[in-house]
Amino acid sequence: MRSLERNIGPVREAAGWSPSSWYERPQQQQPVYADAKELERALAQLRELPPLVTSWEILALKRLIADAAEGKRFVLQGGDCAESFDDCSSPPISNRLKVMLQMSLVLVHGLRLPVVRIGRFAGQYAKPRSADTETRDGVTLPCYRGDLVNGVAFDAQSRRADPQRLLRGHAHSAMTMNFVRALIDGGFADLHHPEYWDLAWVEHSPLQSEYRQMVEAIGNSLRFMETLAGESIGSYQRVDFYTSHEALVLHYEQALTRQVPRHWGWFNLSTHFPWIGMRTAQLDGAHVEYFRGIRNPVAVKIGPSVTPDQLLRLVELLDPDNEPGRLTLIHRMGAEKIEKALPPLLAALKASGRKPLWICDPMHGNTETVGGGVKTRRFQNIRAELDHAFDVHAAVGTRLGGVHLELTGENVTECLGGARDLTEADLARAYKSQVDPRLNYEQSLELAMLIVRKRGGLQAPR
Ligand code: PEP
Ligand code: CO
Repeated sequence: MRSLERNIGPVREAAGWSPSSWYERPQQQQPVYADAKELERALAQLRELPPLVTSWEILALKRLIADAAEGKRFVLQGGDCAESFDDCSSPPISNRLKVMLQMSLVLVHGLRLPVVRIGRFAGQYAKPRSADTETRDGVTLPCYRGDLVNGVAFDAQSRRADPQRLLRGHAHSAMTMNFVRALIDGGFADLHHPEYWDLAWVEHSPLQSEYRQMVEAIGNSLRFMETLAGESIGSYQRVDFYTSHEALVLHYEQALTRQVPRHWGWFNLSTHFPWIGMRTAQLDGAHVEYFRGIRNPVAVKIGPSVTPDQLLRLVELLDPDNEPGRLTLIHRMGAEKIEKALPPLLAALKASGRKPLWICDPMHGNTETVGGGVKTRRFQNIRAELDHAFDVHAAVGTRLGGVHLELTGENVTECLGGARDLTEADLARAYKSQVDPRLNYEQSLELAMLIVRKRGGLQAPR
């Protein structure tokens, strides 16, 4: 039924690909399940469960990403490093949505561009790890790989890879998705009422007055336009949110990879926008093989050790038809490395005539360990990497079309610095992440304001 599709793109399936062809390739970061029959029973159930998103939404997002690659939109992708089943409750979900809505309002207002909002949520339950095992007091157990795989508690029962968690992951993603959709449909994202998005704990934030002024200016413009039009402008009553996660556990992703009646090919219906993490982007590896054949817009994290030649081959594998919106490259180099590592990659792709969407993740190259083994990130490094990213793209003649952030609406103290200048002594106060440190509300909003200033949209504070 191709005639129903309005997006441009390839109309052929990837040669030699099937939803399970990844299985023949070298696999990285996959859980080891002790009982193959138990795994198969869980996967059989998963294959029958309804999908979490639709192919229509996926193709709509692909068009938005194509626009962003052309500079007509800006992408804000953000959320937890890892969601947890315990945090699948109302406040963390709605607070994360509030932060992202506020940030996107700042970006829309300052950049004068529509923003594509993509959450790292409703499926961000699996984590790549640097070691397979963890040893404490002489006891060695499998490491924690995210709630989709095992439990974080340090005992043999929790750390066992449990296939039932694949089903719970699907269920928790569905519950999250359901709540997000209900909030959005119910008017939570209505631009007429940005006060809905205030977080109770930030009343006295130093950034509030700048943000308030902006909200007021937007409210005035909206009322002005409505006066001109003589009616309420309905389309400002809702905004769209898309979902994304690192598609790491391939058994899970495969079980949700489906064909649909009105579109050709295969879609990963567990999320709109899956990405390949830095540790699983090997050219001949299972993840690249799996991603090659799905029709979703896809992303890959690009670290400082990737060479221009490797990148070109990766792009050729994942996007052989140079399809608009198909491929996003998320660079995550670190503040110190970006100026050296990024230009050759940008230049190589530019010379090849490719125009993927480039997004900067200023988080994952800037993780460090401070006093007593606490993982943190310095706001100044995050900010510096993002600053450099804009400059490097401008110098090469490519475009930075978005940011990828780890953030939360909870009052955490996980990253150092920012508007309240959090110090190492503050980290212990509210450090909740089981994995990477996240920006809190103020740090996130400050970063959005910095992006706008960098692009010449707002005046620097006096
Ligand atoms: C992540 O996004 O949480 C992550 C592990 O990133 P990367 O693959 O870039 O290290
Ligand atoms: Co992370």
